Amino acid sequence: MECPHDFESFRDFAVQLAKEAGAIHLTYFRGSDLSLRTKSNLYDVVTRADRESEEYIARRIAECYPAHALLGEESGERGTVGSDYRWVVDPLDGTTNYSQGLPVFTVSIALQYGGETVVGVVYAPYLGELFTAVRGGGAFLTLHDGEPQRLHVSAKTMLAESVLATGFPYDKDIDPDNNCDNVARIVPHVRDLRRYGSAAYDLACVASGWLDGFWELALHEWDVCAGILLVEESGGRVERLRPDRGWSIVAGNTTLIAAMREKVR
Ligand code: IPD
Ligand code: CA
Ligand code: CA
Repeated sequence: MECPHDFESFRDFAVQLAKEAGAIHLTYFRGSDLSLRTKSNLYDVVTRADRESEEYIARRIAECYPAHALLGEESGERGTVGSDYRWVVDPLDGTTNYSQGLPVFTVSIALQYGGETVVGVVYAPYLGELFTAVRGGGAFLTLHDGEPQRLHVSAKTMLAESVLATGFPYDKDIDPDNNCDNVARIVPHVRDLRRYGSAAYDLACVASGWLDGFWELALHEWDVCAGILLVEESGGRVERLRPDRGWSIVAGNTTLIAAMREKVR
């Protein structure tokens, strides 16, 4: 097996893994054999597609790059912890959608080198949308295996003409700091708001200019690592909203982020 070592080759490797993981998702999608279980509470579900796709990705990374570290949602830190190289993987982002038969779900794979994200891949297998970025090289969308198209974030600066997305944390029932107040403050001022159910896809949509902005509280590194690079490499910006609630981020162009931050916190 060939295991290359430059960032473009790591991207191509991540694309291959994302497509193979996506094929696992599609095998069970809308079928009767999801082996659905709950995790932290009744709202937080996991399926055999989450588990099998993470195992697949982790095995391929360990075979090719045994000296690299890996953070995966379903199994935590593994591999050579402390390595300069660290893969950050959400094998299925959007499990609630997936478990309901809704089409927005993704594979999110990032590679960090020396603590900086250098490769980001988000793949939506049902939609046939592949988003990729290598640090310094721009972000791209490949639709149904066609030609890659360069991505650019939206240039809109007014909330009133903007369509934003957000999401809600799984502990929304026990922690009143659950984003409902932010939604109530911002909804009257925006063209509209979406809740797609995959933070990685939300960030990919910001990178593509399909969404003007996105914010969410209490995400995890695996939800956002690849998507943040997509946004940055398409000319956008991602800011941490606050230090006390996991990965709480706001994404868009600089001017729109400032307008969003007047309403969300
Ligand atoms: C979830 C999705 C969702 C976000 C949740 C995440 P999962 O990830 O990204 O959009 O609102 O906070 O946990 O559980 O489907 O991998
Ligand atoms: Ca996730
Ligand atoms: Ca997940």
